[in-house]
Amino acid sequence: MLSLILGIESSCDETAAAVIKEGRTVLSSIVSSQIEVHREYGGVVPELASRKHVEKILPVLREALTKAGVTLSDIDGIAVTQGPGLIGCLMVGISTAKAVSFSLGAPLVGVDHLEAHLAASYLEYDISFPFVGLVVSGGHTSLYLVKNHTEFELLGKTRDDAAGEAFDKAAKLLGLGYPGGVEIDRLSREGDARAIHFPRPFNTTDSFDFSFSGIKTALVYYLKKNPNPNQQQLKDICASYQEAIVETLVQKTLRAATSHNIKTVVIAGGVACNSRLRELARERFEQEGISLLIPSPRYCTDNAAMIGALGFYRFQKGERSELNLNPYSTSRPRYIRGRGLVSH
Ligand code: KG4
Ligand code: ZN
Repeated sequence: MLSLILGIESSCDETAAAVIKEGRTVLSSIVSSQIEVHREYGGVVPELASRKHVEKILPVLREALTKAGVTLSDIDGIAVTQGPGLIGCLMVGISTAKAVSFSLGAPLVGVDHLEAHLAASYLEYDISFPFVGLVVSGGHTSLYLVKNHTEFELLGKTRDDAAGEAFDKAAKLLGLGYPGGVEIDRLSREGDARAIHFPRPFNTTDSFDFSFSGIKTALVYYLKKNPNPNQQQLKDICASYQEAIVETLVQKTLRAATSHNIKTVVIAGGVACNSRLRELARERFEQEGISLLIPSPRYCTDNAAMIGALGFYRFQKGERSELNLNPYSTSRPRYIRGRGLVSH
């Protein structure tokens, strides 16, 4: 068994490395965030992100090894985010992982970032399969049926904006800070969620797909008609907007679970930190006798511990990537063995 796995993550604006023992014990998890670099632009600037990864990847890697009390030669395998993400950013992590793998003669495996968000739950819970997993982050909103540690069936995803993107764009329209999800969450606590009705797209259809661009447009129109809200009105807008997103996420995930007769749900990704999402999901799933598992906030936002966790199980299944492993920017391409496109 490959016991000690080095995880590397660089898909967006966090440079991260972690050392994971036997898939469950986090010996170290180092995350270097670029929020300050991108704040003045109100969103991630891909070229700046890639450059920052180049600067940070080796110091972050060294820190992860030091904190774990190991050296490179102790590492049994390297797991790296292959995609989806920004290509220039992914290339930095992948090149580093390849170099480490080649120099150590240790195996390499490329893992999917979204699947890894759900695999974050393996670190903290004795999970029972199958479960329904919702990944909600700044770049993605995807619903999966997870059959075992390494088998993920995509049930649906957003057709346009991700839930986190909807939070961040609304925050920008409302003149709040970056990234906006946290600010909207905070202001919503003192707002009336029934003050304004925002659309809940696709909530009545059988599809497990999401759409969050309409709600942002609804906010644009609302602000045109009702400019310059006072502080209480701002809180009411935030609460109402948040409620529409959260309700959509919870209802759809609940429907996915009940229609597949599933009793465990995992919600992961940065938006899983949202306090109203946690509250409403807990309430609704409890009523249905479904157990809800949400990783700790440090494993919900981008990190490399989740990459190491999923990598461990992929290695256990005998999966290996070659040194011609390539990144992918959107969804995982079809299985093409030997061409280095994907390893599983
Ligand atoms: O998973 P993550 O760290 O990075 C991506 O892979 O995108 O997620 C970042 C996203 C951002 O859109 C941020 O606004 C959102 O997660 N977020 C939140 C909260 N905390 C982070 N959204 C709503 N409420 C929060 N408390
Ligand atoms: Zn992510």
